[in-house]
Formats: sequence, structure tokens, C-alpha cells
Amino acid sequence: METIHWSVDINVEKRKGYPQISEAADCLRNGHVVAFPTETVYGLGADATSDQAVQGIFDAKGRPSDNPLIVHISDTDDLSGLVAEVSGTASKLMETFWPGPLTIIFNKKSGVFSDLVTAGLETIGIRMPDHPVALELIRRSGRPLAAPSANTSGKPSPTAAAHVAGDLSGRIAGIVDGGETGVGLESTVIDCTVTPPMILRPGGVSAEDIAACIGGVTTDPSLKKEQSAPRSPGMKYTHYAPTAPLYLLEGETKWIQETIQRMQQEGKKVGLLATSELAAEVNADVISICGSRNDPAATARTLYHAIRSFNETDVDMILAESFDEKGIGTAIMNRLEKAAGHKWIRQRSS
Ligand code: TXA
Ligand code: MG
Repeated sequence: METIHWSVDINVEKRKGYPQISEAADCLRNGHVVAFPTETVYGLGADATSDQAVQGIFDAKGRPSDNPLIVHISDTDDLSGLVAEVSGTASKLMETFWPGPLTIIFNKKSGVFSDLVTAGLETIGIRMPDHPVALELIRRSGRPLAAPSANTSGKPSPTAAAHVAGDLSGRIAGIVDGGETGVGLESTVIDCTVTPPMILRPGGVSAEDIAACIGGVTTDPSLKKEQSAPRSPGMKYTHYAPTAPLYLLEGETKWIQETIQRMQQEGKKVGLLATSELAAEVNADVISICGSRNDPAATARTLYHAIRSFNETDVDMILAESFDEKGIGTAIMNRLEKAAGHKWIRQRSS
């Protein structure tokens, strides 16, 4: 399959009457799979009401069929046709965070979505992305769009069209290239079918901001443990992983340098994933910089690209700086823990 590449500047598109976005929307209406930018990561979209279209997503990604997809909408008015009810809490969250990186789990309306979207669950995850290209594409397709991240299953999510092309070129109908994404990590997933609501996946909206909006919120306790089954099916898979094994580091800078040297003496080529501050203080065979200690949002934005970049090197192992688990730091550490398979090297074992 030849993958069409639409390079879209939203201002130019608007002036010309959205010719490229309309073409991509036609593809979606005809049941094809099209990647598009959102504010979090690139999504791999298909008509959520069509079995054949949604099957195309699972085929292209190699995604396990028990992992449900998030549905993307462009207007809150569309919700009433898709979900069984909207609670007061969900309304508050929507008013505050939509459009934006928050996926809300509702009880679904039956007979609307392809069963493949929900993987047999009675619930459905819905979000409204805060990206002008995504919103225009959804509007023009006239369909709710099921869209997981547009990576091959198990790889880091794509934050640029080139990442999508690297994983999926030849396997999907098209890629709408709207430049690099902003948040860089996926949306927060919150289950509003339970009281109090429960965060199933930390992401672009922090638990602190959610608590400030609705009062009580809990977090799926199994996210912290390797063994137990998380409530969000996707969280059980090894994700976001580069080819070389990745280990999280906890210790002082001097110890980090000694640890790198010890690995090198064992004959290993060592990659380091670090903020600009740590990168300035230590040496490794390859260093990939992700943001700054003072700017966790920049770390989030560049994390997946930094992880992916090691695949173009011949490092034997990757050591990664760890971050405070507050604000967006919770999502950063969730993704790093998964990329590392929860493997840590600590200065002091506790
Ligand atoms: O930022 C994002 O959310 C991106 C962009 C493209 O919108 N999408 C994304 O989709 O990350 P995906 O498929 O890679 O992750 C969806 C997550 C999975 O962990 C899945 O298990 C969970 O949401 N999920 C979806 N529907 C669910 C449901 N009904 N109940 C529990 N978890 C659900
Ligand atoms: Mg994903």
C-alpha cells in the first residue's frame, strides 16, 4: 500500500478551504486508516462505527485485540449519541480540560461503536484533542474516530510524522503531517463510571489539576506494581521500549558517572537519557537530552523522541535519569518505568 503524505499548515489549509484535510477525511469515511497529529502524540485514526475500518488499526499496529481504543470527537454535542449518561463530575472535567489531554471513560451507548473499539467492554474512552488539524479532520470525516497512538505496538508513541512513517509507512492509507506534537505524552485516562473517579493512566493532565477541579480522585493502585492487573488493559503491556535494555537511575551525579564507567569497563557501550543539567556533568558513549530539570513539560515533550533516538545508535544499554513524581512528572515516570520494565539501578538499595 502506498501511504499518502499530507503536509498541513493549518493557516494555509484554512485559506484554501481545507483541501488536504478534506482528502484525508474522505479516506477515513471510506473505511481507511489515517494517522493525524494531536496535542499529545500522533493518533492512528479510523471510523469508530465500522468493524472493517477499526480492524485496520489493529492490523497496522499489531495491537492485541483485548486493548480498547480511545474515541476522538470534535464537539461535546456529539457525546449524547455515543454514551449512556454524562455525570456531573464528567461534565466538570469536560468543561475544564476539553479540548485537551484528558480521556474520560463513560458507559457506552449500545449499538453505536464497532465492538472492536471497546474490546468487549461496556465502557468507552472519549476525548476531544486540542489540535486544530485533529479537530478539523474529525469534523470533516463526520465520524467519531477511534485512534490509538500511531506507533507499532510496544514502541514509543510518535511525536512527529517521521516517527509514524518509520513504523507504519506502507501499512496505512495516509499520514497527515501537522508538525511536532506539543505535550509529548499521551492523555490522562480517568474512569468516571466509578465513585470517586479513578485515574487509570497518568498523562497530560496532572492528578493535582484533576483533584483541584473535582475534589476527590484516586489512582489505579496496580500501576505501581509490576505483577497486578491494571484496570486499563493497555497498561499491562511492555510499552515505549527502545531496542536496548533501559534502566532507571537513582543516585548522586558522581555515583552516576562511576556507574557508567563500571559498565564501560565491562565492555558495554552505554547510552544516557538525561536532562541538559545532568548531561553537562557526566560522560557516556551516547547522550540523549530530554528537557531540563527546571522544565518537566520540556522533558515530557522530548522524551519519546529521545528514547527512539537510541535505536539509531549501537548502545548495549540505556541508563535513564529519574524524576520527581509530581505534576507531569508522574506521567514521565510512568512511561520510563514501563520502558525500563521497572528495572532500577540504585546507589543505596532500600
Ligand atoms: O493521547 C492519547 O490518548 C493518544 C492520542 C492519539 O489521542 N491515544 C492513545 O491511545 O494513547 P492508546 O490506544 O495508545 O491508549 C489508550 C489507553 C490504553 O491504555 C487503553 O487500555 C485505555 O486507554 N482504554 C481505552 N478504553 C478504555 C476503557 N473503556 N476502559 C479502560 N481503559 C481504556
Ligand atoms: Mg499507545
